[in-house]
Amino acid sequence: MKKAKVFSDKHYPIGKIDDKIYASFTEHLGRCIYSGLYEPGHPAADENGIRQDVVGLIKELNVPVIRYPGGNFVSCYDWHDGIGPKENRPRRMDYAWSSIETNEFGIDEFCRWAEEAGIEPMIAVNLGTGSIKDAGDLVEYCNHPGGTYWSDLRAKNGHPKPYNVKYWCLGNEMEGNWQAGHLSAEDYAKKALEAAKIMKWVDPSIKLVACGSSYDMLPTYMEWDRVMLPELYNQVDYLSTHHYVMNAGQGLANFLASYKELDNHIKNSVRVIEYVKAKNKFTKDIKICLDEWNVWNFQDIKMDSMSDLSGMTTFELTSAEKWEVAPGILEEKYSLLDSLVLGGMGITLLNNVDTVEIACLAQLINVIAPITTVRGGGVFKQTTYYSFHMLSKYGRGTSMKAAVESETYSSSFGELNLVEPAVVYNEEADEVRVFVLNCSQDEDTALEVELQGYGDRKLKKHLVLAGDDLEARNTIDQPDEVGMKELPVSDGAEVVLPKLSWNVLIYG
Ligand code: AHR
Repeated sequence: MKKAKVFSDKHYPIGKIDDKIYASFTEHLGRCIYSGLYEPGHPAADENGIRQDVVGLIKELNVPVIRYPGGNFVSCYDWHDGIGPKENRPRRMDYAWSSIETNEFGIDEFCRWAEEAGIEPMIAVNLGTGSIKDAGDLVEYCNHPGGTYWSDLRAKNGHPKPYNVKYWCLGNEMEGNWQAGHLSAEDYAKKALEAAKIMKWVDPSIKLVACGSSYDMLPTYMEWDRVMLPELYNQVDYLSTHHYVMNAGQGLANFLASYKELDNHIKNSVRVIEYVKAKNKFTKDIKICLDEWNVWNFQDIKMDSMSDLSGMTTFELTSAEKWEVAPGILEEKYSLLDSLVLGGMGITLLNNVDTVEIACLAQLINVIAPITTVRGGGVFKQTTYYSFHMLSKYGRGTSMKAAVESETYSSSFGELNLVEPAVVYNEEADEVRVFVLNCSQDEDTALEVELQGYGDRKLKKHLVLAGDDLEARNTIDQPDEVGMKELPVSDGAEVVLPKLSWNVLIYG
């Protein structure tokens, strides 16, 4: 058996955990909205076509914010198409995913649902093919109380009360040439600045997110931020970045170490913010909005390198037919291993709460998602549902610094401790919650947790994701192949973490 020790002292917090790190994302992509969230006529759908079986699972995940409507989709989207009587809404070609967008579901349907579900919408505006005026009009439509063209139209469309959408993304992944209307950093800065000005003139209380670098294989990685951020710094509150990790033949240890890859990625965005702040003598701080993160194994995408994306829509690389309505694309089937890796990435989020204020698991339903529906049928939880659920349930309060004493393992990111922890102190429940990824591959690990300054503590609960078959997956027919298990706890100083496991230890 391996041995490891985790130390945490109540005097050393990293920072308060913002609930918004458990946000998520729904895009008009594949079956995320259509036959995911929204399926009129489904036995579980309400009078507005919202599937209540899906809503039940979203509520269980306690997701506070949902980003909408894209993603790559937003750069081709005209929000006007999705308002007013449904029979008048146009069917459009969505270039991003080569699908047909029926526009049956639009901004009103989304905001109304979010309001009912107690979820804050985070809306991305189209800064690719859209205009800065469209962006301002959308803020007016959503947030202005009334007495103007767009706010009165909202009232006419059945919602007199403004939606008061607080979080707004200035486009999506504008650094990439797969984006419709992709811009250079200089041009993005100009357009985003003008959009930001108008949007804030309409509603000064909104919070804005600038599109930062996401993909380190692009030659503009970080250079993009260095160029555009000084122009936008005083207008925005967040810098967006996206990070997906992939099991792509790098070996088990390296894939497990994705938590470190995410940590490096976040720290790069922090460095560029710090550089821009220092260089320009700005005084305020900008936080990171990791508005897309997940494990994404590209099970439905054939791509050898980023250059395959040049000039193509992202969709052209998937297996589906072109110009279908809500094709079943990007429906990843997650394994136990993927859920461990997602849990590891969650540990990284907790250890970076001093800089990351919003993080959106991308996505929520059917597309790269923890929740999978069957059209006209049931719904089940993917393996990744469980690690995200436990993070959201127990990872609230204050994130604490943690030190580790253990053997190490070699990875592409250097020598790493066999166990990767995050420690959370939940003031309300007066509990210390320790999340640990055990990367030991062939032996269990006896872990000692030394808690200083928290008073007398006893291990009350040990929840674990583990199993002999790392390739085990849940399906609609076998929905419980992988799930969280509770292990018995003893009074001993050590707790045994199964090899290759993701654990939540609760000390009361
Ligand atoms: O989440 C799927 C896609 O990934 C989004 O549309 C895009 O922003 C990212 O490249």
